[in-house]
Amino acid sequence: MEKGTQFIRVLELYSGIGGMHYALKASNISFEVVCAIDINPLANTLYNHNFGNRAKHIDITKLDAADLDEYKCDLWTMSPSCQPFTRIGKQQDVQDPRSHAFLHLLNELPKLSSPPEYILIENVQGFEHSLTAHSCREVLKRVGYNFIEGIVTPKELNIPNSRCRWYGLARKDSSVSWNFDDIRKTSFKDGYKNEGLKCLNDFLENQVSLESYFLADKLMFRYGHQLDIVKPTSTNCCCFTRGYAQLVQGSGSVIQTSDHENIADQFEKDRMSLRLRYFTAREIARIMGFPESFQWKELGISEKSMYRLLGNSINVNVVSRLLSYLLNNHTSG
Ligand SMILES: C[S@@+](CC[C@H](N)C(=O)[O-])C[C@H]1O[C@@H](n2cnc3c(N)ncnc32)[C@H](O)[C@@H]1O
Repeated sequence: MEKGTQFIRVLELYSGIGGMHYALKASNISFEVVCAIDINPLANTLYNHNFGNRAKHIDITKLDAADLDEYKCDLWTMSPSCQPFTRIGKQQDVQDPRSHAFLHLLNELPKLSSPPEYILIENVQGFEHSLTAHSCREVLKRVGYNFIEGIVTPKELNIPNSRCRWYGLARKDSSVSWNFDDIRKTSFKDGYKNEGLKCLNDFLENQVSLESYFLADKLMFRYGHQLDIVKPTSTNCCCFTRGYAQLVQGSGSVIQTSDHENIADQFEKDRMSLRLRYFTAREIARIMGFPESFQWKELGISEKSMYRLLGNSINVNVVSRLLSYLLNNHTSG
């Protein structure tokens, strides 16, 4: 197969709402997602609406090596559940039942007669210190993969969002010499769409029905100090997690709609005057690189559910660069 022109068959494991599929679309790779696998019915409905019926409700722990071989895929993408490794979770690692599917895949991989040529894995920062990550490295090495790993945030592509994530890239070709410094030099050097640092305003919707998104007085008075408040001109916001708009601290930023220059001063004087609102799901989807064609309202899915699904997903622009590098060893277009 010639580099850059090969047609790639993809198995999208833990497919959720299809962040990996959008990342493939945004890359320079010719591909077909042969099957997308997830156990979340809502995520699967959304996936199938946006990509045609490819998402299957399958529990990964029920797939054995023969089943996985059947897909005959060149690339596996995976974002295993991150809850066993998150800061705010119990960090039970291999003891957490939500790790079992990934550990199961690691157990099956050496038994495959045709393991995939390429693998991309995503998880939260901190995963790299876990026993699960240790097993992952050990198995990939044993099966003969050339494996690299690193932490990347969308900020590195001039996207105004912190979302540090651990990425592991594996390929069968052991002759390739590669590392994350090289990815940064080659694939990240032009930033996002070859443009300079973006600000949040570039991602905001024009017509937001403010009443639905304003922060309630009670929340503002009780927990206001824990909020991460940003302006439309800010060049950063916090990572949006699945608990956005439900948990206050560490679940994502809120945005000021008033014109006050000094947020901290104004907060102390009259916090309600800042007129803080939540980001809409569409705005978060934009920040995370999902295209405008990504639909959910048509299916009657609520903003709250979308916050949860997007919070579990990935930054499409970051992953598209990593996939292009993984498959071609050069940057996407
Ligand atoms: C971190 S999210 C992945 C998100 C995905 N990359 C996206 O863009 O939305 C993890 C996903 O794994 C799914 N999942 C967890 N355990 C699973 C299992 N045993 N079998 C199949 N899917 C599973 C969850 O339903 C969730 O959608």
